[in-house]
Amino acid sequence: MIPVDLVVQNIGQLVNPAGDQAVRGEALNTLRLLEHGVVAAVGERIAFVGSTADFEKTCRTGPETTVVDAEGMVALPGLVDPHTHLPFAGTRQDEFQQKLLGATYQEIAARGGGIKRTVRLTREIAAPELTRVCEQRLDAILAQGTTLLEAKSGYGLTLADELKQLETLAALSALHPVELVPTFMGAHEIPEEYAGRPGPFLEYMAATVAPEVRRQGLAEFADIFCEDGYFSLGEARGYLKAMRELGFSLKLHADEFTSNGATTLAAEIGATSAEHLIAATGEEIATLAASDTVAVLLPGVSFFLKLGRYAQAREFIRHGGIVALGTDFNPGSSMVSSQLFVFWLGIFEMGLTVEQAFHAVTINAAAAIGRAATHGSIVPGKKMDLLLLDIPDYRSLAYHPGSQPIHTVIKAGEPVIRGRRQQFREE
Ligand code: NIG
Ligand code: FE
Repeated sequence: MIPVDLVVQNIGQLVNPAGDQAVRGEALNTLRLLEHGVVAAVGERIAFVGSTADFEKTCRTGPETTVVDAEGMVALPGLVDPHTHLPFAGTRQDEFQQKLLGATYQEIAARGGGIKRTVRLTREIAAPELTRVCEQRLDAILAQGTTLLEAKSGYGLTLADELKQLETLAALSALHPVELVPTFMGAHEIPEEYAGRPGPFLEYMAATVAPEVRRQGLAEFADIFCEDGYFSLGEARGYLKAMRELGFSLKLHADEFTSNGATTLAAEIGATSAEHLIAATGEEIATLAASDTVAVLLPGVSFFLKLGRYAQAREFIRHGGIVALGTDFNPGSSMVSSQLFVFWLGIFEMGLTVEQAFHAVTINAAAAIGRAATHGSIVPGKKMDLLLLDIPDYRSLAYHPGSQPIHTVIKAGEPVIRGRRQQFREE
């Protein structure tokens, strides 16, 4: 008999992706459902998933066991957000107003707004204040069901300021239940002091900043913004090779606004993920889809910037690609922090089925940040990250866009949010 620390009983429907590693192709159309199930944990890990009868045969509860009655609700894995720029200071709300009047992302950047503006604000803020702001953001993110989140630096662009952003993430990991995967994105923009000199700036990042980030163990991934006006394809190739030599796993902001071959580079270089891909061409889609590089699509950007076009999620899937969805939470191109909202965009704007979108915000999102072995599905041995949703069936989640169905959030075996029942029950 296993003595368990936490048991979630009386689950109406437990919903799992088709597999416990990245899922692609036909399998995306199936979810594993368990009716009237029980999930139990020992410490941070899932120890049991199955029927009440089997639970009683194999597990033991004691006075110390936390018992959560799911009251017939739907249980899902905690949502995974594989792409954010969380540690930024300030907002760019005024730029957003200009965008509503028709200015483009590139026009605003050319007027001194854009990433450079957030860089100025992020350089000015003191580390404890940055931590405090991010903690509040994470509270809101957790309430929306995200329990694991990738977060990029890239608004510092000096040794001290990149370290400040990454140290903030390390401090938050100790402070907040949302689990973080840090990415070093020193190659996000060419700062004013290096204007017109992307080569020397990348050399500084690669020779001075990245090795220190690595030495202090502050980031697992390195990322670069490969785009007209930022870093070229050749620069991205050289930089990513240097990052690999330093021991980083690789990510790439590719084909966000213009097509320049970065999607193919991601596949060639064996990056863990290629992100955005709005402008990726048919051939590039096929190349990336045939590789093990995850296509991280960020519909919040298309929505927030009102681009009128989305990455071709269905084409990636048709070619057998591994598709994940993320928020790209940042103050300029996507002030979207909810993976539930992104799930709805995937369905309503990108044409995904409910089942495909579900995979994209759970197991495939975990695969995009190297966490598929431990997160993204509810099976024994993985982290006990579980949501209870106040809906009668997982499909009602898509049927009620904009609703707030999350009742309970369990992170690493701890119930961190418990709500009130309040949803539509008529289905
Ligand atoms: O993913 N593409 C580069 N970085 C962000 C935008 C960051 C910003 O505008 O502050 C993105 O869209
Ligand atoms: Fe981004």
